[in-house]
Amino acid sequence: MRMYDIIMKKRNGGELTPEEISFFVEGYTGGAIPDYQASALMMAIYFQGMTDGETCELTMAMARSGDMLDLSPIRGIKVDKHSTGGVGDKTSLALAPMAAACGIPVAKMSGRGLGHTGGTIDKLESFPGFTTALSREQFITNVNRIGIAIMGQTADLAPADKKLYALRDVTATVDNMSLIASSIMSKKLAAGADAIVLDVKTGSGAFMKKEADARALAEEMVRIGTNAGRKTVAVISDMDQPLGFAVGNALEVKEAIDTLKGHGPADFLELCLALGSQMLMAGGRANDLKSARAMLEQGIADGSALKKLAEFVEAQGGDSSVVYHPERLPQASLQKEVLSPADGYVSRIVCDEVGICSLLLGGGRETKESSIDLSVGLVLCRKVGDAVRAGEPLAVIHANDGRKAAEAERRFLAACTIAAEPPAKAPFIKEILTGGRS
Ligand code: URA
Repeated sequence: MRMYDIIMKKRNGGELTPEEISFFVEGYTGGAIPDYQASALMMAIYFQGMTDGETCELTMAMARSGDMLDLSPIRGIKVDKHSTGGVGDKTSLALAPMAAACGIPVAKMSGRGLGHTGGTIDKLESFPGFTTALSREQFITNVNRIGIAIMGQTADLAPADKKLYALRDVTATVDNMSLIASSIMSKKLAAGADAIVLDVKTGSGAFMKKEADARALAEEMVRIGTNAGRKTVAVISDMDQPLGFAVGNALEVKEAIDTLKGHGPADFLELCLALGSQMLMAGGRANDLKSARAMLEQGIADGSALKKLAEFVEAQGGDSSVVYHPERLPQASLQKEVLSPADGYVSRIVCDEVGICSLLLGGGRETKESSIDLSVGLVLCRKVGDAVRAGEPLAVIHANDGRKAAEAERRFLAACTIAAEPPAKAPFIKEILTGGRS
């Protein structure tokens, strides 16, 4: 078999065989196939697309390129949750303890933030002492003991995807549905859960800006997961404005804690309940949405979800007193209100711009090596549809540098539209796609 022939076949619109896909993935991961040939194949796939069969083969070959985690020593049905990424997306911080408090074992691998979206691991490091550098044994022991563990993605998890994603990033071949779906699902399948709940975002702060593209991606991922024998569900939700009010690491941790105390923003709570219900049903803890939702709400009302967060933070070396005293989280030295220039209704907040404001303040990474300031970010005072008067605050900027705060203020104001009429209301949860329930 020759890589040249594989590239030419795809360039001419042919369908690659499982053997050809495995030959490429193994050869590229092992270094026998050079970057320039892999780039040519990615570009051919970008233009010619892949069939469902090819996408599944690529996913499985990438999943097999490194360790396939064996979670069988963990008791119960393991349900993983994955977000396609967004602004203010602190979902795992609240949802993992909510699901664990209802008896779902949460054994999760998470990533750091890059670009305008944040990562769960960075957010968790707002708890002083917290670490995700767990050995596999500690990871499994913690899930069996308290019901949750979150560790960083190891280098051995789907290394083919790691290498290919870095290549796609610099060759303008990221935004192809089959390539995104296989990239995400290869990591999820390798991470070993029995069931996968996908949190697919759509809108100006999401990877998929258009709802039709988000749906196509969700369908593709559900198909892949189901074909691989995992129960897979996708919840498509709005990311046309930040999720909740807070954007920035420690600020988002505080909002997740508030949510577990019963004082969370409506959209964020709704998303946690929608995803959590699917987790409880996939994990065999509830038979229908109504009872699943009631169990999750009960976990908030009786404090068990908050207690679960404290146990989890403690088990991973963090200061759990912060859960009950969030004022001990890292705090920025400066708080600056951004005032509305006019009377009216907030009709639009360009969501990825808000992520970039947080990045500019120091809350995100420009490159993988950058260090981040956990204390900075923004807290919205108005969401889309809310009325506002000239001079009232639209948001509060948390900063440690006056110049950066002024730049974030300018950018945030440019991202907001104040209109005379309220905008049309769009549903927050767009659709739930289910596959492979058995
Ligand atoms: N996230 C991933 O993990 N892979 C992609 O290709 C896009 C987003």
